[in-house]
Amino acid sequence: MLRVAIAGASGYTGFELVRILSHHPQVDLTTITSRQQAGQRLDQIYPAFKGHCELTFANTDPEILAANADLVFTALPHQAAMDIVPELLKRNVKVVDLSADYRLKDSKVYEAWYQPHKTPELLSEAVYGLPELHREQIRAARLVANPGCYPTSVILAAAPLLDKGLIEHRSLIADSKSGVTGAGRGVSLSVHFCEVSDSFKAYKVAEHRHTPEMEQELTHLAGEAVCLTFTPHLVPMSRGILSTVYATLREETTADHIDKAFAAFYREAPFVRLCGRGELPTTLQVRGSNYCDLGWRVDERNRRLIVVSVIDNLTRGASGQAVCNMNLMSDMAEELGLNYAPWQP
Ligand SMILES: NC(=O)c1ccc[n+]([C@@H]2O[C@H](COP(=O)([O-])OP(=O)(O)OC[C@H]3O[C@@H](n4cnc5c(N)ncnc54)[C@H](OP(=O)(O)O)[C@@H]3O)[C@@H](O)[C@H]2O)c1
Repeated sequence: MLRVAIAGASGYTGFELVRILSHHPQVDLTTITSRQQAGQRLDQIYPAFKGHCELTFANTDPEILAANADLVFTALPHQAAMDIVPELLKRNVKVVDLSADYRLKDSKVYEAWYQPHKTPELLSEAVYGLPELHREQIRAARLVANPGCYPTSVILAAAPLLDKGLIEHRSLIADSKSGVTGAGRGVSLSVHFCEVSDSFKAYKVAEHRHTPEMEQELTHLAGEAVCLTFTPHLVPMSRGILSTVYATLREETTADHIDKAFAAFYREAPFVRLCGRGELPTTLQVRGSNYCDLGWRVDERNRRLIVVSVIDNLTRGASGQAVCNMNLMSDMAEELGLNYAPWQP
């Protein structure tokens, strides 16, 4: 059994990690931490866990985490993660970090979008944890930077197209909508019920911090600089992301090329389901699961391709993907503990 701990288990991605890990057949979840809930039982904070997890929160202390785990999930805000991750690595513990702290390879880019990095020397070692792109590197990693939720949905929609050179790079536009758990469990006016219900808004237009992460990975696939337009929206639902990705087809690209590129790229990807040309997926059909479902259409009038990508932000966009990475880093089957149907009623 792999001994596992979660730093920041009182937040939404922490909750989702406990939900998945408490039924994982090869994991012994030994430790969960929170500064504010230290000393409280998890099922007092989240009654959903009554009868499923009897753990009590410890303080978020790298010493405690490392003493009780072979692998730690850091489900902390960015900046807080980089205070703890190096301490865990020093103690020979593997880490899957759910924050943005180790996703960008270039510390200058990190600094431009976030703040100065305290351990830039770890950026080249960290592996970007999108299994469909970096499966073999993840297997060998001791630090995996779990992707952001929006980037997971957008990169998976665009990867086969850039890999095969089927679209004009400069034409990429990602228009994404997210449920409110994407903002975490902390309370703020922008996620207040009265501000969110019965409303729909774009936010951080042309300045969202997930942009450089998408460009880094898409540039790697394309072999030349990709600079995309990304517009996120907040929709009145609790979980789920739907990204509509637009691109202009290269002159020689046909609809058949698109179908074949998706099928080939995801041939061995257990968590990508292709709806194909014409059938467009909904967030409900992936709710609570690690699936990304993709559907697409070609608008022949203007040579535009439209790809619709759906994920659950807390599962495929965070904790499910993190468990998938843990499986790969620990020589387990990629699907272990995650191979269940979504929650669609
Ligand atoms: N929500 C999503 O859909 C999503 C998707 C992908 C990635 N992520 C990323 O995953 C991470 C966690 O997100 P979340 O949504 O679970 O956030 P959250 O609900 O706000 O939870 C944050 C957790 O971190 C702890 N924490 C907060 N500030 C801390 C600090 N300065 N030092 C140590 N611990 C601190 C909190 O507990 P205490 O304050 O009690 O210590 C809590 O357990 C973030 O980096 C986020 O960007 C989130």
